[in-house]
Amino acid sequence: MKRTIVELMRPNVAKMQGYKSARHEYQGSANILLDANENPFDWDYNRYPDPHHFRLKRELWKTLGWDMAKISLGNGSDELIDLLIRAFCEPGKDAIRVLNPSYGMYKVTAELNNVEVIKTDLDEDFQLDPTLAFIPSTPPAVKINKEKIFFLTSPNNPTGNAFHQSLLEDIISRYDGIVVVDEAYVDFSSRGSLYTLIDKYPNLVILRTMSKAFGAAGLRIGIALADGLITNVLHKIKPPYNLSTIVQEQAITQLGNYTKILTQSHLTMADRDRLAADLRSLFCVERVFPSDANFLLIKTNAADEIYDFLRKKGIIVRNRSSDHGCFQCLRFTVGTPVENKALLTALNEYDDLNS
Ligand SMILES: Cc1ncc(COP(=O)(O)O)c(C=O)c1O
Repeated sequence: MKRTIVELMRPNVAKMQGYKSARHEYQGSANILLDANENPFDWDYNRYPDPHHFRLKRELWKTLGWDMAKISLGNGSDELIDLLIRAFCEPGKDAIRVLNPSYGMYKVTAELNNVEVIKTDLDEDFQLDPTLAFIPSTPPAVKINKEKIFFLTSPNNPTGNAFHQSLLEDIISRYDGIVVVDEAYVDFSSRGSLYTLIDKYPNLVILRTMSKAFGAAGLRIGIALADGLITNVLHKIKPPYNLSTIVQEQAITQLGNYTKILTQSHLTMADRDRLAADLRSLFCVERVFPSDANFLLIKTNAADEIYDFLRKKGIIVRNRSSDHGCFQCLRFTVGTPVENKALLTALNEYDDLNS
């Protein structure tokens, strides 16, 4: 038998009361607000922000159709990753599982919280073992299963590939714990979101962000989509005013540009495929990995040298050589057409000097 969400939760977190701020207690509009020790002299930002993010959630519902009751918002996905680990993992006792390689903040955040990190290595094509050999066919007894959360990133970073939805669903249905599917890059993928599976699986959390396709990395807005108990616990433990008024307002404005955002994502996907084809013709590029994201991972014949060559030309990329399975690999964000052209020109120059 798999553990229930309440059994997975840290007992002290399940028991505790969340902080009730003044704006939690009173949310209407009133002529005189003397409940929050604010400066009473009027200005756009003299009042605390809405701790429930009501208007922003309503805008997300209107734009993307997400049920407002399933949305939790964080100061970037990074805050939500931290809240999830703190809600479910007992320091010094529990563990999370991550893909290897994958986004580094799961590990850093787990280590900061004194939570063990168990890695599932991807194969040389960055695929998951389809037999799911890393998931026991019968969950171990409650007391000895220290694994609480599996962070599955699809499309994955730094590899760029998205996993088959049926494989992900298989994991969600079998895993004895919370499965967080981080869909930070899903807007650039031909494989869709797993959002609709939330109604079927109470242990599923979908992570989205406004930092990638939505063009708002500077605002810091992460979105967790989940059902009932998980959403409740995230609301209970988040810092009450984790998104400022300015951030909430700017995010609503940016969601009003959704048509433009969609056009930009399609342009980026087309540019990504063109850039991949151009990179394949270079001597210094041994392999361009398939990408469902807004970046490309390439295997080169000399990652450090190429990284330095590009840096001297003012082009900064990510050297992922030390990641599992990524020896000699560089990761490029797909930029504007002008930026992509500059990258290709520089790499052609590198080829001319080194071949
Ligand atoms: C897979 C993945 N998840 C989450 C994030 C961070 O998102 P945010 O900017 O919302 O904290 C990143 C950032 O690169 C990422 O690659």
